[in-house]
Amino acid sequence: MDATELRKKFAESYGYEEGVRTFFAPGRVNFIGEHTDYNGGYVLPAALTVGTWAAVSTRDDGVYRFCSTNFGTRLECSVHELVYKKEDDWANYPKGVLSELIQFAGPDKSKRYLGADILYHGNIPNGVGLSSSASIELVTGLALSELAGFDIPMIELVKLAQRAENNFVGVNCGIMDQFAVGMGKEGQALALKCDTLAYRYIPVKSYGYKIVITNTNKRRELADSKYNERRSECEQGVELIKKVMPHVQALGDLDLEDWERVRHVIKDHVISRRVEHVITENERVLAAVKVLEANNLTEFGALMIASHESLRDLYEVTGIELDTIFEEASKIDGCIGTCMTGAGFGGCTVSLVKEEAVADFKETVAENYTRKTGLVPAFYICEIGGGAKEMQEVEKQSQL
Ligand code: GLA
Repeated sequence: MDATELRKKFAESYGYEEGVRTFFAPGRVNFIGEHTDYNGGYVLPAALTVGTWAAVSTRDDGVYRFCSTNFGTRLECSVHELVYKKEDDWANYPKGVLSELIQFAGPDKSKRYLGADILYHGNIPNGVGLSSSASIELVTGLALSELAGFDIPMIELVKLAQRAENNFVGVNCGIMDQFAVGMGKEGQALALKCDTLAYRYIPVKSYGYKIVITNTNKRRELADSKYNERRSECEQGVELIKKVMPHVQALGDLDLEDWERVRHVIKDHVISRRVEHVITENERVLAAVKVLEANNLTEFGALMIASHESLRDLYEVTGIELDTIFEEASKIDGCIGTCMTGAGFGGCTVSLVKEEAVADFKETVAENYTRKTGLVPAFYICEIGGGAKEMQEVEKQSQL
């Protein structure tokens, strides 16, 4: 679907197409640096070429209408009734973003949010750890702020989208997803320090390797409560460490040497394992950036494998499905790196697979995974795309 087709869909839903503008925000994959963002640590994600499209037109009666080609829900709400409602389902994301945009504008300027009709279309599988929600948030933030005549810097939209998810939707996520979706660049990964938001683009050259995302197709149960449990375990770790290192604000402030000096203060084995994951994962991201810059994909892949093992053994967020895909993928000749991506507890892995081995990878991993778990996986061969933007007329939608 290109911009013209998106406009046609908009016309089918709303009965007009004059004044329609079209926007896009991608999904993301994270190569390494899992559960480090809310600890003020490092991450290395990239934007994908799949994502969410929005066709948008302004109104002047203070009413916002949301609909999607992917879901049945159609929602209409006034700018004065922006409250979370469970039954509004995915539409809570745009509502949350709009609510944050209005606060960001302040009492006078917020009057420029006059209403809009929006049609969404997406091709990111939902709820599998590829940031479909951050993608809806950023496409909405960009479209509605542009329509209201504001030119909000992308980094502010990124922070605002995270606030919408934390405060309105009630998911306590870190900044990684929104950052990658907003700030991504074609062919580049983003090395980001999540407390200062210092970042750098790192070119990812393929050298005949493909980025293969494997979806476990396992429903992510209890993911939110387990995610919050991990966050609180890390906070407990910080409190204990502060007793001997009062300057420490977050686990991202510690390197391996610090950890060796303070690990004795954490007697609880669970907390100790969680902290050890975060600190070693941070070191792995830094090492991954170095080897990627040196074009050493083999070493990069080895770090991905070490990351998965740490997420499995120390942080305990993988589970049988992700671990089975990981094990089967590691056995394939031509797969030089593989690990879970996103929050875990189901969802996807990301692997680097030699182009000529991709067919064997898909067939063998699928066969062995299904035999062991009874589930059928899905595979997506991905490209690294750019961040959220207004679309040009001729741009084509990429397919998973
Ligand atoms: C989810 C969250 C991110 C991050 C990852 C784990 O994707 O939205 O903020 O915490 O989990 O790395």
